[in-house]
Amino acid sequence: MDKFYLTTAIDYVNGAPHIGHAYEKILTDVIARHFSQRCDDVYFLTGTDEHGIKIQKTAASKGITPKELCDENAQKFKDAWKALDIDYTRFIRTTDEDHVKIVQKIFRKLMENGDIYKNSYEGLYCSGCESFLNPKDLTEDGLCPDHLKKPEVVREENYFFKLTKYKDAIIKHIKENPDFIIPQFRANEVLNQLEDIQDISVSRSKSNVQWGIDVLDDEEQSIYVWIDALSNYITALGYDVETPSEKFKKYWPADVQVIGKDILKFHSIYWPAILLALGLPLPKHIFAHGWITIDQAKMSKSIGNVISPTSVLESFELEHPDAFRYYMACAAPCGKDGNYSDDDFKEKVNAHLANSMGNLLNRTLSMLVKYFDGEVKEEFFVARNKELVTGSLSLLKTALNKIDLVKNNFDNFEIAEAGQEITTLVDITNKYVTDNAPWTLAKEEKMTECGQVLTTVLEVMCIISALIYPFCPNIAKDMARQLSFDLSTKLDDLTYENIKTGHLISKEEIKPVFLRVDSELADKSKK
Ligand code: MSP
Repeated sequence: MDKFYLTTAIDYVNGAPHIGHAYEKILTDVIARHFSQRCDDVYFLTGTDEHGIKIQKTAASKGITPKELCDENAQKFKDAWKALDIDYTRFIRTTDEDHVKIVQKIFRKLMENGDIYKNSYEGLYCSGCESFLNPKDLTEDGLCPDHLKKPEVVREENYFFKLTKYKDAIIKHIKENPDFIIPQFRANEVLNQLEDIQDISVSRSKSNVQWGIDVLDDEEQSIYVWIDALSNYITALGYDVETPSEKFKKYWPADVQVIGKDILKFHSIYWPAILLALGLPLPKHIFAHGWITIDQAKMSKSIGNVISPTSVLESFELEHPDAFRYYMACAAPCGKDGNYSDDDFKEKVNAHLANSMGNLLNRTLSMLVKYFDGEVKEEFFVARNKELVTGSLSLLKTALNKIDLVKNNFDNFEIAEAGQEITTLVDITNKYVTDNAPWTLAKEEKMTECGQVLTTVLEVMCIISALIYPFCPNIAKDMARQLSFDLSTKLDDLTYENIKTGHLISKEEIKPVFLRVDSELADKSKK
């Protein structure tokens, strides 16, 4: 693997980020960090989607310009991602000058190639979706099923993109590449939608939508926001219709594009059609995650249950975002919906990160100090010596095998499933400690056996720190520091022997890697 290019959806900036947006960015950051442990060159793109009627209307209602609204809110997204340790390579804004220029050229190229034509049109437009809706998809009351708002009747002369021309090629691609759409159960939905697709309107009259990228050569029209937004995945790399940049040649096609299930149609039908029209290869995978509910309810401004990701960090007084990252990344099996609740958050992170994982490291290191003054002796290494304590070698084998299982999960974008494999490894290791009771071995003066148990656990802890790193980078670094383990070791280079012989740690250097979160804090902040 010589490069790994991954992208998220770019968020609308008509409001501040909420934990649904955060869910996607965390999932993608976890994937990016995992692949950085397998490949030296990971490019992670995220950003904000800033044009369109929705932003125009929100800005007008606040009495500010659309650009002012975008600047204010784009900053809130950047701040939130910083607080969550989202380590992106580029944060693209669709108002960025380089993006705007390339989108105009892309549109012109599609016109020159005959993929875009002009037509008059009447349709039902939902500004929430930034999309025309098919009347048959409306609710009984004539509302948009996602936004529960009445779409506007729009009569305009627009440019149209020949989506129908690419229908057969897209169907063929989906059928021939069963892992193009992940999870695979969503592919059938897309194939059904493809059955009755029409050409799509790809511009709006400037008399209705002023906040958009101008069509070159036609000052009456602005480019449809989804054409503008989808193009970000290539404009960010400096795609240019004439001479693609080195960066573009290196990173495109994307290895995975992470999006929510609600915008799968745009990514698995419109986007591939645009790419085919431009003569470009399609992304390797489109990963559509599910949605996050709050206490089992859909997040909505009218219910008043919208949660900002930073408010969770603040209400639990978390010193870093790891617990929240871990919880969110593991909130749902691949592609399924998940739920956030304060109580469940507290229970899971206390159980997994504090009680099981953190405590295991803490007590093993404490015993090493108590019985051996913090020293790991040559004779403790089971792989080089005789197995004195049954189960030691098999535990090490299990740990190395987990690396393959976790890699396999990530190859299929099964992030929560990978989290579950790591939790299981922690549980197996805890059981090994309980079964072999190193404190009893010490009492019986079986010191080499006792040292073998502790060293074996510390070896496994190195592997656990590497595996948990994408989810909990701060905790992993803290674990690795106490183990004198080099966390930059690639996953494939991990062995049975990651711990060095000699003095490892003194009593003062041992520190719990994760302190239990307190429920009272969150209750207090709610009140
Ligand atoms: N701007 C478009 C995407 C353009 S991509 C070229 C958009 N923006 S959005 O702000 O509405 O949503 C951004 C992402 O957040 C989408 O992938 C969407 O699915 C995701 N989520 C928004 N609310 C969500 C939840 N409640 N739960 C999980 N993800 C959700 O769509």
